[in-house]
Amino acid sequence: MKVLIHPTPEAGADCVAALIAARLRRRSAPVLGLATGGTMEAVYARLIAQHRAGRCSFAQTETFNLDEYVGLAPDHPCSYWHYMRAQLFDHVDIAPGRYHLPRGDAPDPEAEAARYEAAILAAGDIGLQLLGLGANGHIGFNEPTSSLSSLTRIKTLTRSTREANARFFDRPEDVPRLAITMGIGTILRAEEVVLLAYGAGKARAAAAMIEGPLSAACPASVLQMHRRATVVLDEAAAAELKLRDYYEDIHPEGRDRPI
Ligand code: F6R
Repeated sequence: MKVLIHPTPEAGADCVAALIAARLRRRSAPVLGLATGGTMEAVYARLIAQHRAGRCSFAQTETFNLDEYVGLAPDHPCSYWHYMRAQLFDHVDIAPGRYHLPRGDAPDPEAEAARYEAAILAAGDIGLQLLGLGANGHIGFNEPTSSLSSLTRIKTLTRSTREANARFFDRPEDVPRLAITMGIGTILRAEEVVLLAYGAGKARAAAAMIEGPLSAACPASVLQMHRRATVVLDEAAAAELKLRDYYEDIHPEGRDRPI
């Protein structure tokens, strides 16, 4: 696991946007796995800026988002479909048929989850998977105790996740209880994963993910098993790392160095 500790959240977002833009430039048709949430807003703003400056194009890419709330249709203002159009897709050159999210309003959510998993496989799996980190260690909506080899399916959100996400809804009771999420096994099949987390609220989960035991109690710890995982943190999120000096020695101020 490569751990890059940046002085500020802005520097972390710069780093992740640069990794994605580099991937977009490198391959003719990269498959990107995308995330939502507050953390990613700065990353998408930077990608839009790079696109407007002619430095990256989404025309050849296909994208799959991690998750969607069960019960929310794509035009619901709190759906992840809506988030992705507002934060990225409506501002770049991606064709409507080339971005994918699970349909939260599917009449049979379990069948929709199976369809989504099959679509990811048919696309040849994810090239680069972008991840955020839940304060409880979740990735996607794989909450603690999720099977470490799970595929796309329905998960019940924990109370702490619903409370954390209530800020996006008019009323806390409007936060759905269920989500369709890529599984941990789905995420592990990605060729490369990049996780971004910042702020003191993520420090405990970040330490458990990087230095804790591999455990379903902290689903993100499964990234210890991935051959190509990069974790990008700011100083606040890195505050509980025991081996922080080591990571900073290898990557001063989060700078990546060719091996
Ligand atoms: C979002 C997702 C979640 C978030 C995580 C962090 O698609 O899958 O795992 O990345 O909950 O959310 P924020 O960035 O809002 O703290």
